[in-house]
Amino acid sequence: MYSLAHGEILEYFYAKTGIHFDEKKDVVAHKIDTFCQLRGFRDVHSFFETLKKDEPLWQEFVNLLTVNETYFFRETMQIEMMVAMAKERQNFNILCAPSSSGEEPYTILMSLAEAGLLPRVGKLTGIDINSAVIRMAQDGMYSKRSLHRTPAEVVQKYFKTPDGQKFEITSDIKRLVDFRVQNIFDQSIKNLGQFDFVFSRNMIIYFDKESRLEAERALYSFLKPGGILFLGHADLIQNSFNLKKVVQGGIVYYQKE
Ligand SMILES: C[S@@+](CC[C@H](N)C(=O)[O-])C[C@H]1O[C@@H](n2cnc3c(N)ncnc32)[C@H](O)[C@@H]1O
Repeated sequence: MYSLAHGEILEYFYAKTGIHFDEKKDVVAHKIDTFCQLRGFRDVHSFFETLKKDEPLWQEFVNLLTVNETYFFRETMQIEMMVAMAKERQNFNILCAPSSSGEEPYTILMSLAEAGLLPRVGKLTGIDINSAVIRMAQDGMYSKRSLHRTPAEVVQKYFKTPDGQKFEITSDIKRLVDFRVQNIFDQSIKNLGQFDFVFSRNMIIYFDKESRLEAERALYSFLKPGGILFLGHADLIQNSFNLKKVVQGGIVYYQKE
C-alpha cells in the first residue's frame, strides 16, 4: 500500500530525475517494497536513508523505476526527414537524449548508411539515466523482439547473428557511437557539447511542467546554431527558448536560428 514514506521517496526521485508517478503510485509502491525486501532493508524508511547516501543503490533504483521501452525503426518519419536534411550537410554529429538500449541511435545510423551518408557522421552520442540500458547499447546485442519492425534486408546487412537468436550490430556502425550514463538534469550535461541533430523522443512525456522546462533548457543548449531538434509526438514543450517551429509533411521539428 502507498504510504507517506513511499511519497517521500518519490518526491526525492522526482527532484533528481524529473520523473513523476501521478497515476501509478500503488504499482510503484509495490515495486519499492519488493526492492527493499530483496536487499534486506527492514523498512522503507531505512531504505530511504541509505538511498540518499549510496550511489550504486541509487543507480539500481533508477534502473528499476525508469521505463525503457524502445525498438528498432520506431517512428521512422522523423528519422527519414533527418536523413534528407543530412544530405545538405557535409559533416554532422547527433545526440540521442535519451537513447535507452540503443535501438533508436542505431536505427538513425543504419538509415544514414542506407543513404550513403555514414562517412559524414562525426559521432553519435547517446545518453540515458539508466545504466543497465546504456550497457546494452554499448554491447549492441539484441533479441528478435527488438527487430520486429526492421526490414529483413537491413537485418542481413547490419547485424551479425551466428546463432539466429542474438543479433549484434556490425562494427562499422558501432564504432560511431558513444553511449554514456547521464541524467539530463545534471550540471555535467554541459560537457556533452553541441550537435547538429538532437533527438529527444519519449522522455519528456514522463516529466511534469517544471521538469519539462528544465529539459527544454538542456535540449536548447545541445543545439548548434542551425541545429535541429526532433521530439516524440507526445513530448510537449512550451518552446520557451523561441526555437523556430517547423511543420512539414505532418512532422514537427525545431530549429535554432
Ligand atoms: C521510453 S524510453 C525512450 C527511448 C527512445 N528515445 C525511443 O523513443 O524509443 C525513455 C528513456 O528516458 C530515460 N530517462 C528518463 N529520465 C531521464 C533523465 N532525467 N535523464 C536521462 N534519461 C532519462 C529512461 O531511462 C528511458 O530509457
